[in-house]
Amino acid sequence: MFEALTHRRYLLPFKASRLPQQFTDVLVIGGGVAGLRAAIAAADGGADVLLLTKDTVDESNTWYAQGGIAAVLQPADSLASHVADTEAGGAGLCDRDAVEVVVREGPERVLELLSWGIHFDKDAAKPHGLAFTLEGGHSFARILHAYGDATGRELAQTLIRTVRGRETIRVSERTFVIDLITDDAPTAGGPRCVGVLALINGQVNVIWARATVLASGGAGQLFRESTNPKIATADGHAMAFRAGATLQDMEMVQFHPTTLYVAGASRALITEAVRGEGAYLVDRNGYRFMADYHPAGELAPRDVVSRAIVEQIRKTQFTHVYLDVRHLPTAQFRERFPQLARLVDEFDIDVGKDLIPIHPACHYMIGGVDVDLHGRSSLTGLWAVGEASCTGLHGANRLGSNSLLEGLAFGARAGTDAASAVKELAGMKFPQSMEHKVAAGTKTELDIVDVKSSLRSVMWRNVGIERAGERLAETRDIIGFWSRYVMDKAFDPAVVGEAVATQGWEVQNMLAVCAVITSAAHARTESRGAHYRTDHPTRDDPHWRLHLLWRRGMETPIPEPID
Ligand code: FAD
Ligand code: SIN
Repeated sequence: MFEALTHRRYLLPFKASRLPQQFTDVLVIGGGVAGLRAAIAAADGGADVLLLTKDTVDESNTWYAQGGIAAVLQPADSLASHVADTEAGGAGLCDRDAVEVVVREGPERVLELLSWGIHFDKDAAKPHGLAFTLEGGHSFARILHAYGDATGRELAQTLIRTVRGRETIRVSERTFVIDLITDDAPTAGGPRCVGVLALINGQVNVIWARATVLASGGAGQLFRESTNPKIATADGHAMAFRAGATLQDMEMVQFHPTTLYVAGASRALITEAVRGEGAYLVDRNGYRFMADYHPAGELAPRDVVSRAIVEQIRKTQFTHVYLDVRHLPTAQFRERFPQLARLVDEFDIDVGKDLIPIHPACHYMIGGVDVDLHGRSSLTGLWAVGEASCTGLHGANRLGSNSLLEGLAFGARAGTDAASAVKELAGMKFPQSMEHKVAAGTKTELDIVDVKSSLRSVMWRNVGIERAGERLAETRDIIGFWSRYVMDKAFDPAVVGEAVATQGWEVQNMLAVCAVITSAAHARTESRGAHYRTDHPTRDDPHWRLHLLWRRGMETPIPEPID
């Protein structure tokens, strides 16, 4: 990979003894489902916990989740069926143990949410009195939802309330984590993660932690078209990479088939549950095309539907396709999907009469920090959970509503494990005199906003739903060139101000992660799940049933075959 990206260990020069310092047992970076659940488990395990969020705690991918949470809670459903569906979606790349852990522990995690006061939509005729819906790739209607299409908000509020009720958890909002700190010469073992550098009220702080749980979410902002909020700039993936942790399956980026396609509007997600409840996909000629692409029609796996839409757009020489819900009872539809109803109202779209224009967009980062069944990464002292991690649950393609479930299951596991690990580390010394120098370049004035938007555009064009070797190589070169002058900057908040510094660090993180994604997509010369190569359009199990692992300083990935 590029020198500019691999040689940079920290984004900022620092002398720890000169900075304000804080201490905690367990530090959780991120306040989405995974971080909140990890914090609760760590506190329940007896640890003091500090949880950091770069914006307010209600700004996360979790908050915007719509469709729901998948869990086996009905006698007619089975764990084996949820495992089989997840593995079929994962296209040969799932980690069987991770799938079994999440599916088996999922029901308990969901019932626990009910005991914490979550409101899921009700159906008195169904087990537990709960309503369940269907989503693509699931062979059973096992998706729980809240307030129709506001599952994420209800889930986040429930977990935030529970966190606030734990005296040993402190929450620090608007705290931007810049880098993980590693002690590269601990008394025993290899390098160890010992905390973070974080910007609090314009001042860089050192937060020392016996255990650090990375729950920093996804990477949707790396692509021009995205369902993710602005915070999703892959900071956690990048800082873990700089600190020496291993990243896995980084070529696997999921594109959601249905986001509202209206000029000037953000690409608001239209939940897959709309298709689960019977919506059709039609092209500009009113032709219902999904049967031409997959026997499951509109409920085929996401990668299949996204590619089918791209192909149909090409065939009809148009800019988008449509969701057709006109055949569904309008009042019931509006009641079932109240957020969507409000959204389409803003654009004068009458779902009883009009088609809803849609287009795919980047939605979910499947790849992430390689972790074991307790969320432990390859770097001692660092756990990773949620979208920042790669447990192997999703393989090459995630099923709808399996992400919130994973955040709950692995959040709980990692929090418990981290709390238990810190009990052994009571006398741990932190390298408080640590110092790091960065020789910052003075080359060029930088228009950060322009670099960010150019990067997002090139990623969408060349590393999106359809990829090809030549375009990927070209994109790698472009990122390499931009990195030479972006990565040599050190955005000192005392000089450039808080806003410019955080934007600058975000762009540096985005460049690093885009480089890994593009290199991984270039390396995998086959098509599998979410990764589709037009020049290698078929799945190649004999050569490619393996993970690609990436670590800073390595020129090529390490292949890890799947047993
Ligand atoms: P997030 O919820 O994204 O939280 C990340 C946290 O990390 C935030 O608190 C953020 O502030 C913090 N953070 C990031 N960087 C830094 C930094 N540098 N310093 C400090 N803090 C930082 N999945 C489902 O299973 N079901 C659904 O119905 C569903 N619907 C979705 C709808 C939308 C619109 C989107 C975008 C996603 C949806 N997903 C759904 C996916 C799912 O919501 C996410 O994968 C999941 O919520 C990720 O949780 P997380 O805890 O890993 O990260
Ligand atoms: C959706 O509601 O379609 C998104 C669900 C998910 O990403 O799991």
